[in-house]
Amino acid sequence: METRGYQFSYKVYADKLGLPAGDQALIDASAVACTQAYAPYSGFKVGAAIRTLDNDVVAGSNQENGAFPIGQCAERVALYLMVHTIGRKPIDTIAIVVDNKDQLTPASPCGSCRQILNEYRSFQDTPIRLLLTLSRGGEVYEINDVKDLLPFAFDGSFLGL
Ligand code: THU
Repeated sequence: METRGYQFSYKVYADKLGLPAGDQALIDASAVACTQAYAPYSGFKVGAAIRTLDNDVVAGSNQENGAFPIGQCAERVALYLMVHTIGRKPIDTIAIVVDNKDQLTPASPCGSCRQILNEYRSFQDTPIRLLLTLSRGGEVYEINDVKDLLPFAFDGSFLGL
């Protein structure tokens, strides 16, 4: 028998001002995207802004629907918009903000988004970094790589890719 381990750590900044100007701008872009969220059912507005390795920025927001399951998360809206506007480029960082008065800490991507982010991660050799915060400001969580959020991921390698 052997025990195999997995360790996860992330950084916490008191606010976005502790980050480089480019990251602050990306957080601002996700906060602007968040204003376009359509979340009348949950009241939980999310904005996501993707910065590619070559410094393009594409953003999206969550879009809900009266038939609940068919709503779409901000991360996926941003990812798919990126592919269809500038192409499937390697991603450097994704900033994700939440606008919800009851939410006191940054929120992290849902399980489905982690799976999809992991798929995009498999297209590149470099990490996809995440910055998580609230649209009204406060602490920023920095996660080095989306892969860290989905240990033991199921991916295309199981299907021969
Ligand atoms: N949501 C996102 O857009 N991204 C996440 O990472 C978590 C959840 C949305 C989905 C739904 O519209 C609302 O937040 C509440 O779950």
